[in-house]
Amino acid sequence: MGASMLVDLISNGKPPGATESTVFGPFYREGGPEMPSGGNVAEGAEGGTPTVVYGRVPDMTGKSHRGRGARVWQADPEGLYDSQRPEIADELRMRGIFHSGADGSYVIRTTRPVHYQIPADGPVGEMPATMKRHPWRPAHIHFKITAPGYSPLTTHLFDNADEYLDSDAVFGVKDSLICEFPLHTTRDEDSARLGIDPPFCTAHYDFVLAPA
Ligand SMILES: [Fe+2]
Repeated sequence: MGASMLVDLISNGKPPGATESTVFGPFYREGGPEMPSGGNVAEGAEGGTPTVVYGRVPDMTGKSHRGRGARVWQADPEGLYDSQRPEIADELRMRGIFHSGADGSYVIRTTRPVHYQIPADGPVGEMPATMKRHPWRPAHIHFKITAPGYSPLTTHLFDNADEYLDSDAVFGVKDSLICEFPLHTTRDEDSARLGIDPPFCTAHYDFVLAPA
């Protein structure tokens, strides 16, 4: 078990039935655009497979409510976070703030996450060299979910097709956070319901909040 995972288990352990947390990582930034349901965090990013992540944010009794907030951040289709691109200075990209709707559901438009190499500088970057491991993190999307009365949830969704799931450089993978990203190549129920043209991926995940 990696040190970061151990720290996460100690500081963020969730009760059985609640969505598990995982590492926060160094790429979170305050702010980011408030987005409506279905808003696209990948606006302005080039390439990648359009992807819709959707589901609900229930509590452990199964109840969903309006207004549960999710901060979402992700590497771009080339595997870089906005803060790793000096050419865009302080511009926020591949980030957004969402709230669950009246029926407790959420819909986030993005691109399919890609695996990326962690920076070679800094304390995280030093780990693989000293442990003779590779520097790759499996494809994932970051979430920080908050709602009054509930324990904040910092977690990822991982793409179940990624080749680095079993060897994440920072030991962040948990089985319960691995999600299918099926590719839709023709018009179907999901394209009609989500208002998106093929080809696109979907990922369906319910984030279950634990009481504070
Ligand atoms: Fe990340």
